[in-house]
Formats: sequence, structure tokens, C-alpha cells
Amino acid sequence: MGSYNRLLKNNIAWAANTVARDPEFFTRLSEIQSPEFLWIGCSDSRVPANEITGTDPGEIFVHRNIANMVVHTDLNLLSVLQYAVEMLHVKHIIVCGHYGCGGVKAAMSNDSLGIINKWLRNIKDVRRLHRDELDALPDENKRFDRLVELNVIEQVMDLSKTSIVQRAWKERGGPDLHGWVYSLADGIIHPTCEIKAGAEIDPIYRFDGL
Ligand code: CO
Repeated sequence: MGSYNRLLKNNIAWAANTVARDPEFFTRLSEIQSPEFLWIGCSDSRVPANEITGTDPGEIFVHRNIANMVVHTDLNLLSVLQYAVEMLHVKHIIVCGHYGCGGVKAAMSNDSLGIINKWLRNIKDVRRLHRDELDALPDENKRFDRLVELNVIEQVMDLSKTSIVQRAWKERGGPDLHGWVYSLADGIIHPTCEIKAGAEIDPIYRFDGL
């Protein structure tokens, strides 16, 4: 029996348990989703959005990629962002990175990994932007942890630079933007930064006429 069969077996048990707990669960969710949160997280299998936040299906709209990046040419991310902000009207967008992130680690090296190089280039830009702060840290582990945090902060700022977010701020005073870092060592999420809807952003990135 293939190992994937365990997943299907678990699924049947999960569906039965869920109905036992809440008979209307699937009827309710099959009609509409109205999540309050958009989660932009790492693809890392150890950082599943719902499990670590104790939330149910229907509560978080999720986008995951390597190292939880907000890349302005990424049609996938932009489509998720636009849908979450303009159709689902999410109140909060959370960028959640994690210590020990393999993507960030790779961006600290000079390894050539093929097409992934292009993705990691975006993290290397964060590294270059904060070179002085990172170089001043005493060792590689501290630099690694700090780059994880700085990367999250930069991705949150990148969200505020999109016309999608700026237009929503103007039209409905939301969503708020949050940067979190999850610790694999103890399962705890550390809030790292926050940009409230309507906050002043660097004028270089502000769009007029939205
Ligand atoms: Co990661």
C-alpha cells in the first residue's frame, strides 16, 4: 500500500470527526468562504498556517512559496493578493516567515541551484539592503535569524508598495499588514512588524490617483 493511502484514510476519519463535532460544518463552508486573514507563508512543510494558529478551514486564505516572498512580478502572488483584498475583503494580511528557513539559508550562500537562483535573488537583495546591520552581528547563526526577520519586514513593506493594497486602504481603510516569524524550536510565533492601513509609506512608492 502506497504511503499516500494513509492520507486518504486520514481524510475519511477527519471528515467523520468534523461532522461529529459540527454537523453543519461542510454545508456551511461549501456555500461561501469569508476568511478574515490572508496568509503569505513559506512552503516549508513544518509551518502549516491553520495548524499553528489553531484555525479551521474557511478562516485563512493561504498563499505559500519558498521563503514567503512578495515578488511584484509574481502573477500567482498578485492574483491571490488581489482576490483576497478585493473580493474576500480580508482584514489582515500576515507574512509569516520562520527561523531555520532553507530559502533564506540558501540566499546566504553562493551555491548555484538552477532556476531557484532567480527566486533567491530577491532575498539576496534584502541581504544587500541590510548588509551593514547583518555584518555587524557576531556570528552566522545570528545573521541567519536576523535575515529571516528582515526578509519578513521587507515583504510586508512590499505589500504596502502594491497598488492593490494602497487602493484598498483608500477605499475601505483596510487591510492591516503584519509580519510574523515562527520558531520551529518551540512552535511560537513572534510578531515582528506591523503596518496599519493608511500608514504613511515612503513617498517613492506611493501611487497617486488610485
Ligand atoms: Co522556509
